[in-house]
Amino acid sequence: MSANPLAPAWLSLPADANALDAMVWSRGASRAASGVLEIAGLDVAAIAAEYGTPVYVVDESDARGRALAVREAFDREFARIGSSARVYYAGKAFLTTEVARWMIAAGLNIDVCSGGELAVVLAAGVDPSRLGLHGNNKSVTEIDRAVSVGVGAIVLDSPIEIERVAAAATKHGRVQPVRLRINSGVHASTHEYLATAREDQKFGIPLADAEATVAAIRAHASLEFLGLHSHIGSQIFGSDGFAEAARRLFVLHAKLLQTGPVPELNLGGGFGIAYTSADVALPLEEIARRLADIVGAMADELGVPVPMVSIEPGRAIIGPSTTTIYEVGTVKDVLVPIPEVSTSSTPGFAIRKYVSVDGGMSDNIRAALYRADYSVRIASRTSKAEAALVRIAGKHCESGDIVVHADYLPGDVRPGDLLAVPATGAYHWSMASNYNYLGRPPVVAVKDGIAHLLVRGETEADLLSRDAGLERTP
Ligand code: LLP
Repeated sequence: MSANPLAPAWLSLPADANALDAMVWSRGASRAASGVLEIAGLDVAAIAAEYGTPVYVVDESDARGRALAVREAFDREFARIGSSARVYYAGKAFLTTEVARWMIAAGLNIDVCSGGELAVVLAAGVDPSRLGLHGNNKSVTEIDRAVSVGVGAIVLDSPIEIERVAAAATKHGRVQPVRLRINSGVHASTHEYLATAREDQKFGIPLADAEATVAAIRAHASLEFLGLHSHIGSQIFGSDGFAEAARRLFVLHAKLLQTGPVPELNLGGGFGIAYTSADVALPLEEIARRLADIVGAMADELGVPVPMVSIEPGRAIIGPSTTTIYEVGTVKDVLVPIPEVSTSSTPGFAIRKYVSVDGGMSDNIRAALYRADYSVRIASRTSKAEAALVRIAGKHCESGDIVVHADYLPGDVRPGDLLAVPATGAYHWSMASNYNYLGRPPVVAVKDGIAHLLVRGETEADLLSRDAGLERTP
């Protein structure tokens, strides 16, 4: 079979459309002898039978292993340059009370960016001193709660927040540690980064205003200035963008040391992961090594001590751990005209197989929102049928409701098959919606062949539970 002309340039025809690329799938994903996909030793057909579909399946050891590995790598690499590092898990990627406890057990801290995320980690029993609070528009109530419970660091995003946090700290008789978010001018996006003089976006303050803003922070006895913060974007491959941001921040960091203490430097998160075999993600161990090299060299060059460095990965820790399982409902072959191969007498066409599943943009908005690409495999069996180009569509009422824009699956994919979409741990459940009144799917963790719920799925009763019209008699 030759490649389908409708396939995007990055997608190659697989030698085996049943194979699981180890760079994309969670470490515990494998095919059982029967051909069924197993996650952490448990057959996904059994998971689907117990919890229904769609279902997010988290490979617990994968997630916890990555959390531990990133913490150890940063500890090791920053000890090498005579300093230390702190890793914050970015809770916005996926947060439940149990996940919060996994991260704390691996020695991580946790970043939250709203009162809701703060409530989840506090409910999990996390020591507030291990938390960071972000947000470009934290409410006065959110700030008050964070200060009153003793959140370890609040990241100030604009000058207005200095007064708000200082006032809350004074009210609660505390000295609140704060960082200042800087817009470093390094704009990173998927697969590339480009430097601009001043970015047109809402986060942080410009480099040029930083010294005056830090002076304003230091003028408050109720605030303790910890250092600068930068987050250049998300799903970034390579380390050049991070290196450039680190360089820019470090120059400012060294200047600020002339007027007072600056114990830390926070370089944010954003480390990319592989969603398809075409993505090449740097291992976090390698990122740790490169960042330590840059920070160490900069400290030498500028003649200042190496600061404690913190980072905030979310996706790179939790993203690869999770696989979404769907059931196929309908399959249809759509003849798509291809103008490039058409002649005046014979129009050229190719077939794209549309495979519709029982979820969609309500459990994975990333494919529609960012035009993100994913991979897919039949989970309930293997097949020797010739590979066909497929598009996995959801069941929502819009044509942009796509889960996987393009991949090859065995051409006999049919109703009743279970499909598995890997790398759905970050920003899937956390961005899920009830569009078309679909209930948000359950999240199940699997370890050593045993599954347990992290979050139960929504029922029809849940969907109606906030509908105030039921309380009113007609
Ligand atoms: N730190 C800060 C300040 C952030 O804003 C973020 C993500 C992170 C850390 C973690 O970034 P990560 O390591 O997970 O890439 N919904 C988008 C991603 C939005 C990221 C927002 N901030 C997506 O689905 O790709």
